[in-house]
Amino acid sequence: MPLDLDSLSIRLSHRPIVWVEETDSTMHDAAHLASMGCASGTVVGANAQTAGHGRLGRKWLSVPGAGLYFSVVLRLSLPSEHLPVVTLATGLAAAEGITAASGLAVDLRWPNDVLAGGRKVCGILIEQHQSALICGIGINVDHAEFPPELEPIATSLFLAGARSVNKEDLLVAVLESLDRHIVLLAEKGPEPVLALFAQASSYVSGRSVVVDQEDAQIRGITDGLDPSGFLWVRQQDGVRKLILAGGVRPG
Ligand code: BTN
Repeated sequence: MPLDLDSLSIRLSHRPIVWVEETDSTMHDAAHLASMGCASGTVVGANAQTAGHGRLGRKWLSVPGAGLYFSVVLRLSLPSEHLPVVTLATGLAAAEGITAASGLAVDLRWPNDVLAGGRKVCGILIEQHQSALICGIGINVDHAEFPPELEPIATSLFLAGARSVNKEDLLVAVLESLDRHIVLLAEKGPEPVLALFAQASSYVSGRSVVVDQEDAQIRGITDGLDPSGFLWVRQQDGVRKLILAGGVRPG
């Protein structure tokens, strides 16, 4: 069922929201709106994406009508060193919104994958477009199955045990939580956001992980976040490596 935009716009305090049946990627639509000068907080969503994409050049499976696929344009006056923390704040918001709307307990894998039962239920992509940040969020809601190559690593709220999640409630819960975390970051700086992330994520400390990077693979035990929100990993030889980017998985 399509989302009820009139009721959503009221529930979202008249935040600009555009929702289309199909697009290539809401990241492109949001970037286009940003370049036209849209307001901070503008949301662009779609029931289906033909070229949904994620971090590290991966595709994002966007089964028509089964998920929530949307991007939020943010214009923030934050010091540039706080921008990486927006990535963590968006993950926290998605996790909090998912729990509020579905009742499921979830985990966060650095930097911002949301996991249910150890499998990915939500992915987040943050891109800078001119002076705006585009926060893309994909949540697998009603998917009853995944292709064999994704089956071991992906799940949906439905498969994780949440029945009939209302997508409007879910969207509102994520956006309201995103606002709260961005205000927290703007008013109090990164520390409280980092502390909340460390509390919500089993991956921040003491987890045996492999980090796949473009030209290297790092293995070790996670050892906290640095003040910018990057992940420390202690290798077996005792050397600590600061992970700025890459895919983290259990090691
Ligand atoms: C990832 O886990 O790698 C990030 C996935 C982000 C997917 C969302 S769906 C809405 C928005 N549009 C896209 O093309 N990507 C993001």
